Amino acid sequence: MNKKFYITTPIYYPSAKPHMGHAYSSIIADFFARFKKIDGHEVHFLTGTDEHGLKIQRSAEKQGVDTLEFCNKISQTFRDLSKTLNLTNTDFIRTTEKRHKKTVQHLWNELENNDDIYLSKYTGWYSVSDEAFYNEDEIEEVDGNKIAISSKSNVEWIEEESYFFRLSKWQKPLLNYYETHPNFIGPETRKNEVISFVKSGLKDLSVSRKSFSWGIKVPNNKNHIIYVWLDALTNYLSALNYPDTNDELFKNFWPASVHLIGKDILRFHAIYWPAFLLAAKIELPSRIYGHGWILSGEEKMSKSKGNILDPIEIINQYGLDPLRYYLIKEVSFGNDGNISQEKLEDCINSDLANNFGNLCQRVTTFAIKNCESKIPKRIEFQKEDLEILDKYKNNLDNIRKKIDNQNINFYIDYIVNSLFEANKYFNDQEPWKKKDNPLRLNTIVFTGLEIVRKISFMLYPIIPNSSLKALKIFNLTEKDINFSSIENNEFLAKDSEINEIDILFKKIEKKND
Ligand code: MSP
Repeated sequence: MNKKFYITTPIYYPSAKPHMGHAYSSIIADFFARFKKIDGHEVHFLTGTDEHGLKIQRSAEKQGVDTLEFCNKISQTFRDLSKTLNLTNTDFIRTTEKRHKKTVQHLWNELENNDDIYLSKYTGWYSVSDEAFYNEDEIEEVDGNKIAISSKSNVEWIEEESYFFRLSKWQKPLLNYYETHPNFIGPETRKNEVISFVKSGLKDLSVSRKSFSWGIKVPNNKNHIIYVWLDALTNYLSALNYPDTNDELFKNFWPASVHLIGKDILRFHAIYWPAFLLAAKIELPSRIYGHGWILSGEEKMSKSKGNILDPIEIINQYGLDPLRYYLIKEVSFGNDGNISQEKLEDCINSDLANNFGNLCQRVTTFAIKNCESKIPKRIEFQKEDLEILDKYKNNLDNIRKKIDNQNINFYIDYIVNSLFEANKYFNDQEPWKKKDNPLRLNTIVFTGLEIVRKISFMLYPIIPNSSLKALKIFNLTEKDINFSSIENNEFLAKDSEINEIDILFKKIEKKND
């Protein structure tokens, strides 16, 4: 196996327990990780928690607990959520770990040795909530409070000695990089925003703080701690054991294939991160993709707004796979999306229960009754069978391309259409009227079962548990799932047993039904 795929989620602030926005980033990353895995890649999938900085220090102080203990506790809830969401992450990094500190300090030294860091004084605005510096023209006053226009979070005035990274020096190389690597930033609209921001001029970036202590120390000046974003971004490298460039993880997986992030942190990933990497002479990741927000009542969820949606509550009520399916299907990927219970229930009833569940159930029940519970042995495809079967083969490379472009909506729409087509095929072919023509009946059943198999394979990255449940019909397990094999129209082992399966999705009774 030589194709490698390295995907990362943002590392989450353990300042409060996880919400739906965090779950969203992680579920989407898991979708890509699983897809690449069934498409023959060795996958490294990283998530974790971003534990330093004033935001975390203050959150711990508010509760009157030791900062590390505070982090331990909340970081664990993120780790637990990874399990609850059925993520296939291969690592979970915490920025308070030794392996991370080592990498950050090494990177700092590299930047300093290359004359990209100098000591001066920062005078300006800072948002603790965003852990970001803002220019005068990026803030406004509301009800006597200064806030950042983009995030609406409070800013405070800072005047302190600080190390600076020569970001201005990298303005031209960055613009050149964006131009020569048109796929570096996605989606396209966000890329344009980044480019115009960089074109408007980059100021050197303050990369150390002196007035608090919760962070990684600047190697040669213990009075300073390293800016939390320089610290946090480096997690993508420390998880691969950089600077040990001979380490298998680093050799195999750097540069990262995709850093999946929310749109609010694009500036850090698409400007600061590549600038740090260019300065340290490290290869840049292949792609940075900024997805939209999950809104709760038209607003981004946040603790301060009190409009947090708890993924665990939704999972307890509806189950994990319906939530995964819903978030992947109903949010137009790249844009913001509103979460609504009503739409989630519609998804369960129409797509999952009526469309997928029903297809599996009716084809299997018919096969069990009419084909002695076995995959038919003697078949002879006709034009109408091949027409529906070959579509998968003919779309294989197109689907791969769309995935590489993060076009998740294409993928799921493809599945939904295939389900409609498959149900229609079974209706139109009327196998129940072919009892006097066993060859035809068997061929229709075989075709139906093959489609169930192909679609279940394709659904695996979205609803892994339900896909595996459906594949029990054929005694297939996780290790059998292989995206390439959807081009094979005779994958199923002829004459082997077919199993009855439990109902895949229970329909939700809606009040106005
Ligand atoms: N710690 C930084 C990331 C450092 S990565 C080197 C951070 N953490 S966060 O916990 O505030 O947010 C993590 C991710 O969750 C971000 O990508 C953010 O966009 C995403 N979301 C937070 N709220 C969200 C929604 N309401 N909807 C979708 N995603 C949002 O930023």
